[in-house]
Amino acid sequence: MADLVLKNVEKSYGPIKVIQGISLDIKNGEFIVFVGPSGCGKSTLLRMIAGLEDITSGEVFIDGQLVNSVPAPKRGISMVFQSYALYPHMTVRQNMSFGLEVSGAPKDLVTERVADAAEILQLVPYLDRLPKALSGGQRQRVAIGRAIVREPKIFLFDEPLSNLDTALRGQTRVEIARLHARLDATMIYVTHDQTEAMTLVDRIVVLNEGKIEQVGTPLELYQTPNNAFVAAFIGGQAMNFLPVENGQITLEGVKLPFLLPQDTKTVGIRPEHLTRVPDGERWLSGVVDVVEEFGESVLYHIIMDNAPADMPLMIFKSDHNIGEKGSRVSLSGDVKNLHAFDADGGSLKFDKL
Ligand SMILES: Nc1ncnc2c1ncn2[C@@H]1O[C@H](COP(=O)(O)OP(=O)(O)OP(=O)(O)O)[C@@H](O)[C@H]1O
Ligand SMILES: [Mg+2]
Repeated sequence: MADLVLKNVEKSYGPIKVIQGISLDIKNGEFIVFVGPSGCGKSTLLRMIAGLEDITSGEVFIDGQLVNSVPAPKRGISMVFQSYALYPHMTVRQNMSFGLEVSGAPKDLVTERVADAAEILQLVPYLDRLPKALSGGQRQRVAIGRAIVREPKIFLFDEPLSNLDTALRGQTRVEIARLHARLDATMIYVTHDQTEAMTLVDRIVVLNEGKIEQVGTPLELYQTPNNAFVAAFIGGQAMNFLPVENGQITLEGVKLPFLLPQDTKTVGIRPEHLTRVPDGERWLSGVVDVVEEFGESVLYHIIMDNAPADMPLMIFKSDHNIGEKGSRVSLSGDVKNLHAFDADGGSLKFDKL
C-alpha cells in the first residue's frame, strides 16, 4: 500500500511531447483507471510510474519519497502487461516464484506467497502445468499472480484483459475487484473498455493527447463532464450533440421550451435520456432509420426532420416499442439531462430547474 503523487510530469521523444504536464494525487489503497483514445499516453505514463521510462521533467513521489531516479525493481511496483509473456518452459508455480527467488527471498516465503496467490486466483489445480496447457484467462491469472507474489506497494495494469473473450473479461474483472478489496493495494488500471472503467474503480482519469481532461468518480464524469470530450468519451452509448445558436437548437422545426446559455454552441443529450412523447410535447421529431436490438435494450437511430442524414440521433431504451424502421417519432427529454458546451467545448453551467 502506498500513495502516489505526480507533479507536472512530462515526457518527450525528441521534439514530440507525449505527456504534457500531468499532476495527480492517488491515495493509499485507491483504485484508479486511466482511459483515453489510442496514443494519448496511457502506457507511457504507466511506464514512467513503474520506472521503465525516463521522466523528461516533473516529479513522481511514492509514499512521499521522490523516485525519479530510483530504478524500477526498487520502486515496490508490479506491472501486468497486456501481452502476459509467461516463460513457456516454466510451470505455473515456477512462473510465479521466479521473480521472488531471483530477488533472494527465502524459500519458505516464496512457497507461502505462491500458495496464497494461487488460492486467490483459483490457480491451485494448475500449478504444475506449463502455460501452453492453460486457457487465455488462466494464463492472464498467472501473470497477475506473478505480480501479487511480490507484494508490491502499487499495482499497475496495462489493459490486462484485452486478449480475453467477453465472458472471461467479466470473470477476471470481478477477480481483480476482489483482489483489490482483499489486498487493499493501490492500483492503476489502463483500459479502453467503458464497463471496466465504470465498474471497477474509485476514480477515473480521462486522458487526451498527453493531458488530463478530468478526474472524478464514474458518476461525476457521467453527470458533470468538464467538457465535450469527456461527455463523448464516458458512457455506454455515445452522447448526441446538436448545434445551437442564441440558446436554441438550430435545426428547423426543433424547439426547446427554454433557452440554453447565450454562449452555447453545442447541446449534448445522452441516448438513454430521450423519451418518446405525444407530438404536442415534442422537442424534436424524425423517422426511425435503424433499430439495433441488444436484448435487454434497443438502440434506435433516428433521422431528424431537417437534419442531414449523417447526423442521426440515437435513443437507447429498454422499451422495445419506440418504433419500427420507417415510423415517425416525437421526442423530448428532461432539461436536467442536457449538457451545454461553448465554442471551445467547455461545459457551461446553467439553471436546470
Ligand atoms: N519510443 C517512442 N518514440 C516516439 N514516440 C513514442 C514512443 N513510444 C510512444 N510514443 C508515442 O507516444 C504516444 C503515446 O503512446 P502510448 O503507448 O502511451 O499510448 P496509449 O495511450 O497507451 O495508446 P494505446 O491505447 O493504443 O495503447 C503515441 O503517440 C506514441 O506514438
Ligand atoms: Mg497503451
